[in-house]
Parts: sequence; C-alpha cells; structure tokens
Amino acid sequence: MSLPRPIRIAPSLLAADFARLGEEVRAVAAAGADWLHLDIMDGHFVPNISFGPGLVKALRKHAAIPFDVHLMIAPADAYLAAFAEAGADLISLHPEAGPHLHRSLQTIRALGKKAGVVLNPATPVAAVETVLDLCDLVLVMSVNPGFGGQSFIRSQLAKIAALRAMIEASGREIALQVDGGVTAETARDCIAAGADVLVAGTAVFGARDYAAAIAAIRGS
Ligand code: DX5
Ligand code: ZN
Repeated sequence: MSLPRPIRIAPSLLAADFARLGEEVRAVAAAGADWLHLDIMDGHFVPNISFGPGLVKALRKHAAIPFDVHLMIAPADAYLAAFAEAGADLISLHPEAGPHLHRSLQTIRALGKKAGVVLNPATPVAAVETVLDLCDLVLVMSVNPGFGGQSFIRSQLAKIAALRAMIEASGREIALQVDGGVTAETARDCIAAGADVLVAGTAVFGARDYAAAIAAIRGS
C-alpha cells in the first residue's frame, strides 16, 4: 500500500482584500498556506483583468512560501521571463494560450522555474499527455477561468482521476492541482479523485479565520 499523499493548500490571492495585499499574503502564510496562488488575467484570454508581474514582485518579500503563478493571458510567451524575475516559483499556462505549448514549457524550465499546464473544463486530458515529460504540475480547472466565487463543476472529478492514473504511469513527480469552487466539502472529492494541491480563493480569504479555513480544506 502506498503512503497517503501530502495535501498542499494554495490560497488564491484573487479573493483577498486588494487594498491590503502585503498583509493578506503574510496572514495566509502564517495561517499554514503551502503555496500562494496568483491569478494573472488579461481581459482577453479571460473576461477579467487582475494584476501583472509588478505586483508579484512587490509581494514576493512578504512571504517565503512558493509563488504559484497561473497565467490566463494570451499569448503568454512574451511575459514568462518577467514573471520568473518577479519571483514566481511555478508558472502554469493554458494550451489555448498558444501558439506552441511545448516551447512555452521549455522556456519556463530554462528560466529555472517549475512548469504547469492548465486544463479548462472543456479541455480534454489528451491536451497535456504529449507534454507531460515537461510538466511539474497539471492544474484542472473546476470552474471556467476568469472569476472567483463560482460553483465547482463536478464533471471534472473524472478528469482528475484520469490524470492521477496518467501521472502514476509516468513515474515522475507531478503535482495535480484543482482550482475553482474548492471548499472543505468539494476538497474531499478532489482528494479522493487524486488531487494533491487545492487552490481556494473565497473559501480562505472569505473566511474570518484563515488558519481554520485552510485546515478544514486540508481535512486536518
Ligand atoms: C479562476 C481562478 C481561481 C479563482 C478561484 O479563474 O483561476 O484561482 O481565484 O476562486 P474560488 O476559490 O473562489 O473559486
Ligand atoms: Zn487560478
């Protein structure tokens, strides 16, 4: 029997108080967050605009936990170096951002960062299969990207399970992350399906007690 997989929680800054971001980052790190999830939106690839590398850089000094940068921008290639220099530890992007996913992943790794591929609810598992050897992370979107506070799409649980099997078969260490509508309840299903990194915006920053919210999502 294999050992239980450690579960990591990555609060999404999108749901934080934007007027007090440095303080919010310090608060979630102190509350037990394993990674900080930073959603980058361009108002073109997704119908919302968030923030860019300047803000990531300004926040970097506020916590030592890994910065997990989720790019929802197209094209992404021109900005990869800027996010690496800003202090990202992981950089993930969508295959639809184009034009060449394999090349983008090579670029992220050449910058010395961990690379991830993000699958939208309608994007099949096959979109990552041929580049899995370049992935440190696969992220399953359990909402359509662009906004926090949406409801968890349950059909994505089967995709998580299929990816868990694919990752096990690869024999490589690849994090399997879920993003969107994650709560203490939906987290149980995500973990049972094989996820090991849970992104949560509203369920953490919308709570009064960040440490209790993180512990509840982790299931500890
Ligand atoms: C959506 C973002 C998510 C979002 C999650 O495009 O990728 O990271 O912040 O927010 P919640 O946890 O509120 O669904
Ligand atoms: Zn995200």
